[in-house]
Amino acid sequence: MSSFFLSLFFLLLIIQSWPMKLTQAEKNIFILAGQSNMAGRGGVTNNTTTGATTWDGIVPPQCNPNPSILKLNSHLKWVEAQEPLHEDIDRDKTNGIGPGMVFANRVLEKNMGVGVVGLVPCAIGGSNVSEWEKGKVLYSHMMKRVKGSLRDGGEVRGILWFQGESDTVNLRDAESYQNKVRRFFLDVRSDLQAPLLPIIQVALASGSGPYVEIVRQAQLGINLLNLKTVDAKGLPLQPDGLHLSTEAQVVLGKMMGDAFLQFVPSLIPSPDIHHNVSQIRKEASNSIGLSNCVSHVYMVHVFITFLIMIS
Ligand SMILES: *[C@@H]1O[C@H](CO)[C@@H](O)[C@H](O)[C@H]1NC(C)=O
Ligand SMILES: *[C@@H]1O[C@H](CO)[C@@H](O)[C@H](O)[C@H]1NC(C)=O
Ligand SMILES: *[C@@H]1O[C@H](CO)[C@@H](O)[C@H](O)[C@H]1NC(C)=O
Ligand SMILES: *[C@@H]1O[C@H](CO)[C@@H](O)[C@H](O)[C@H]1NC(C)=O
Repeated sequence: MSSFFLSLFFLLLIIQSWPMKLTQAEKNIFILAGQSNMAGRGGVTNNTTTGATTWDGIVPPQCNPNPSILKLNSHLKWVEAQEPLHEDIDRDKTNGIGPGMVFANRVLEKNMGVGVVGLVPCAIGGSNVSEWEKGKVLYSHMMKRVKGSLRDGGEVRGILWFQGESDTVNLRDAESYQNKVRRFFLDVRSDLQAPLLPIIQVALASGSGPYVEIVRQAQLGINLLNLKTVDAKGLPLQPDGLHLSTEAQVVLGKMMGDAFLQFVPSLIPSPDIHHNVSQIRKEASNSIGLSNCVSHVYMVHVFITFLIMIS
């Protein structure tokens, strides 16, 4: 019986503390993966005479650096993050503004308790979903980076995924997109031992081929717990018709930040602010996310089991 209570205690502890208490002491780590629109091409223009691509260097205030936003660089070192976030990762391309910095600034702005946000850029321009399959180079590279990001503490809080433009060229690729991307999400969760890891994916705004709508429907139709889809359709594109503009990335990053914040059950006050428990409770009850509902379902289940055991 006492081991039962001990297990119950630990179970409650796990449910209480996972998935989503953003903590100030540790890094709250986010994986950024996908292709060019995740890496960021906002402000990148192509001189059609010379074929040379250049970034205009314009950083909107929503993408400003912040001492509380770090990025894991290509040498697996934490550095203060700044645009272009993927400069040293998606090295063969000219990088510009993507959604990552906006996302991080948004999360910090809306949840003062977050502390430090650690971004792990992994996106590679032009990649297709098959290249992200477990066992392939991009998957392994990402996992190596995530492992590196956890070396001095921290917790992976979610993955931001914006990919699929390359899978709109062939009908077969578009039609198999949903199975492949679902497999990818499940593999990431399983390898990180985080079965409910929050996923924020983007439904395509554009594509390299004609089957954009098939991939979009595949994305919008994925039904996984703790997966949220934000829709980029209609956001302004660069003249190439493929890449989101800087302005569009600012809107998208905000949408992704707000989608993520729905997972966070409560605002965690910083220790130097006086706690007002009734206020915190009120805020918590105002922002019950999916993960929180899942927790509550388990809690009810555990409680009923407990009642049966003692009766
Ligand atoms: C493209 O490059 C050429 C040669 O450097 C330059 O003269 C031209 O102004 C550039 N065009 C644009 C639109 O930047
Ligand atoms: C730039 O434009 C040229 C001419 O349209 C095209 O061939 C080339 O692929 C473009 N480069 C990039 C990186 O988009
Ligand atoms: C995906 O990209 C890789 C590398 O460019 C290519 O070899 C492959 O044919 C593409 N498509 C699929 C469905 O694997
Ligand atoms: C705590 O917050 C609640 C709701 O905002 C307020 O009514 C109450 O007066 C506060 N209590 C203290 C001790 O500040």
